[in-house]
Amino acid sequence: MAARLCARHLPPAWLCRCKPNSSPEPPVRATGYARENQPLFFLRCRRAAQGQGRHYRAALCTELKHPLVVEEVVSRPVGPHEVRVDVHFCGINFADTLVCRGQYQEKPPLPFTPGIEFSGAVLETGTDVSTVKKGDRVIGVSNFNAMAEECITDQKTLWRIPENVSLQDAAVLPVSYGTAILALDHRARTQPGETVLVTAAAGATGLAVIDVATNVLRAKVIAAAGSDEKCKLAMQRGAQSSVNYSQGSLKEAVKKLVGSGGVNVAIDMVGGDVFLESLRSNLLLLKNISAMGLYFGRYQHQDFALFSKSMSSALQYCQQGLIHPHTGAVFKLEKINDALLHVMQRKSTGKVLLSLK
Ligand SMILES: NC(=O)c1ccc[n+]([C@@H]2O[C@H](COP(=O)([O-])OP(=O)(O)OC[C@H]3O[C@@H](n4cnc5c(N)ncnc54)[C@H](OP(=O)(O)O)[C@@H]3O)[C@@H](O)[C@H]2O)c1
Repeated sequence: MAARLCARHLPPAWLCRCKPNSSPEPPVRATGYARENQPLFFLRCRRAAQGQGRHYRAALCTELKHPLVVEEVVSRPVGPHEVRVDVHFCGINFADTLVCRGQYQEKPPLPFTPGIEFSGAVLETGTDVSTVKKGDRVIGVSNFNAMAEECITDQKTLWRIPENVSLQDAAVLPVSYGTAILALDHRARTQPGETVLVTAAAGATGLAVIDVATNVLRAKVIAAAGSDEKCKLAMQRGAQSSVNYSQGSLKEAVKKLVGSGGVNVAIDMVGGDVFLESLRSNLLLLKNISAMGLYFGRYQHQDFALFSKSMSSALQYCQQGLIHPHTGAVFKLEKINDALLHVMQRKSTGKVLLSLK
């Protein structure tokens, strides 16, 4: 387990509920990224040859650890429950950088198109689709095929975007806000007035945690990040205080802020020493508190109702003006490799989006 915690190339999201857990759920001991009961739907890309029917452009990973290529791909017909979406924005996640290096827990066969979340407009619906219609604006999650002008997905994994929410803001929501809501609300049961510590606080998920904790759950956030600029951004986005963990002990800095009582909830997305320091902002055994793991994608298969509720809630909070999704950078499809590097080199803040228009 310790080795897992230290492996930055696996995407961690660890929670520490630093007070007796009121949840009826037993504390979960995270064991990593088990794949049992988790159906994997990967579709092979058919690259277009001249004279074939309808085409669209897609980013393709043709070889692991090599730059992606942008190519014309042949459209396939939609199945009865499927929807073809004209993709406007696709979120770039750390998971995309990992899957293209063969370091993610899911390993689609080559060639494949990365991208697990998007916003866009419905182009075509299958014969049994009842939830959306042509022209509807939607967000969706998919199993690595969203970095493309078109994406086909099951109707279940699409949610309609309210009128006053832009396609760009909506594209920031699925993974980052879905994770933030499930972590803060479902898992940690964060209460108004509690103090939440979040690491990688200026990243896409970190800023979503700050937004939801502060503006929806009325908690106070200590933002921990790796530079003064990132700390400044986290403060601008609602954190009450910040700690630059590249300049000393996170544990000591947090202690100075909240005293020996520690924080109520710690959400760590970095792993390694930063995780251990977050954990030491309180002591599990002495204080009857619990540490939990969270894997957002797994909820889609394990508890779809909960997964879907996290999406609907994110859209609703956005419609109500409670939350304010932050896009740090937008890249065109042709610049996909620059976009992935931007994320991998730790330069990004907020959500990095790929614009397909
Ligand atoms: N388990 C889940 O369900 C789940 C869901 C969403 C995200 N995640 C994971 O949580 C992490 C953050 O996600 P995100 O969407 O917020 O990503 P992001 O926007 O790319 O932010 C990543 C941040 O992580 C920090 N970091 C620390 N060590 C790093 C390293 N070696 N390389 C790159 N970044 C490093 C950096 O912030 P500092 O410079 O401030 O340290 C960076 O800005 C990722 O690992 C992601 O895979 C897990």
